[in-house]
Amino acid sequence: MTTRFPDDPIYRGFDAPGRVEANVFDLEVDGRIPAELDGTFFRVAPVPNWPPKLGNGLFFDGDGMVGAFRFKDGHVDFSSRYVRTDKFVAERKARRALFGAYRNPFTDDPAVAGKIRSTANTNVIVHHGLLFALKEDSPPVAMRPDTLETIGNYRFGGKMTSETFTAHPKIDPVNGELIAFGYSARGVATTDIAYYVIDRGGNVVHEAWLNAPRAAMVHDFAVTENYVVFPISSVGTDLERLKAGKTAFHWLPNVEQIYGVLPRRGGGKDIRWFTVPTNGFQGHTINAWDDGHKVYVDMPVANDNVFWFFPEDSGRVPDPKSLRQVLTRWTFDLSAKSSTPKAQTIASLMAEFPHIDDRYATRPYRHAFFGIYDPTASYDFARCGPPPANVFFNGLMRLDVMTGEMRRWLAGPTSGIQEPVFAPRSPNAPEGDGYLILLVNRLDELRSDLIVIDTQDFEHGPIAVAHLPLRLRNGIHGNWVPATAMEKHSDA
Ligand SMILES: [Fe+2]
Repeated sequence: MTTRFPDDPIYRGFDAPGRVEANVFDLEVDGRIPAELDGTFFRVAPVPNWPPKLGNGLFFDGDGMVGAFRFKDGHVDFSSRYVRTDKFVAERKARRALFGAYRNPFTDDPAVAGKIRSTANTNVIVHHGLLFALKEDSPPVAMRPDTLETIGNYRFGGKMTSETFTAHPKIDPVNGELIAFGYSARGVATTDIAYYVIDRGGNVVHEAWLNAPRAAMVHDFAVTENYVVFPISSVGTDLERLKAGKTAFHWLPNVEQIYGVLPRRGGGKDIRWFTVPTNGFQGHTINAWDDGHKVYVDMPVANDNVFWFFPEDSGRVPDPKSLRQVLTRWTFDLSAKSSTPKAQTIASLMAEFPHIDDRYATRPYRHAFFGIYDPTASYDFARCGPPPANVFFNGLMRLDVMTGEMRRWLAGPTSGIQEPVFAPRSPNAPEGDGYLILLVNRLDELRSDLIVIDTQDFEHGPIAVAHLPLRLRNGIHGNWVPATAMEKHSDA
């Protein structure tokens, strides 16, 4: 028998580690699942298998549990499986946690020294016929998209030599290229960034090595038709901290924002660094595009440290009420001498986990979808207890980035939402015309529903509610994968 998880809000209530692998064939549905939806919504959540080795942990430090919702002919089937990472396999054998603190190999049991530490819990994508479960400190873990069977650590035919691979690679919708990078690419706290372009057949066709101006988290990046942009965050790391057993990352309070712009087929010498004198916490990339000379990147930027669990060295963490976020459009002008990008405000509100119509990724676009937290929305404390400690979004937003028009839908006083993904109504539908698919946390019932919202009738809420007989812990990221994109490309 294993011991109990600590009495800590990150392991309680809706976010208690469920540890259930499940198959539910043909979910019960209220409403109508659009018959034209033919594909799979893949998502992944951190669901720790074992109480933390050191007695405490972070919400997002848990073993990756992949969920797949398969849509076909108006029906939805659900399955979930843990990713059989090296960590999963070693710890299951030992029946306890062997890996220590988040992203700190110096706290691990000697029995697993040197092993790949991936939890594979941050994102799941499909490329060249394989499902990849991703964690930014390790190589991808390949799985079979139909059965969720783990194949193993994946290095693209041995050509990817980086120790790490981002959880936010981009797929070019025109040529099918997978564009990716790894930071701390030569080991924890190193400044090396490895950059890769992988063709639609899974072959590495371009590699570059960069040296970032500081050792810091680089969680997401931006890709356009001709360029890539690396935001080097103000969430720093260094080897001495790790060896001393401190948190792997810490907020750097008095530094400038740094962005590196590289031609998509550029080498290390081609990178151009831009800086912004005011510090900021860079959120997820919404989308990016270029016109040949100017590179445009849309992303939320907050005024202070959003990651309260990685405080600055003084111990200070900002009062959550003091956090302000701006959906920002950066313009990097490559024909100008200035090394400061222009900032333009698209909207000012707390909105994250952006998804767009992926057919417009890396190109000019207009529509974006987000999870939002509206502090003025009613919340049924009596039925739900305190709001979840880890992640709490209570609504959705559809944003027209051209006009600034916002449309919202709130999930109600007993519900929270997880990241929404977008599925087009048909392969030729106009941009943003289709469906949002997402999990809703029923906080009063400690149970999950999958909902479908028609983007043409956004405010009216779900047209279909698929009921799950279990609770799916707050996940991190996922994607809609049309059935046609599940095919293996062997033409490259
Ligand atoms: Fe992310």
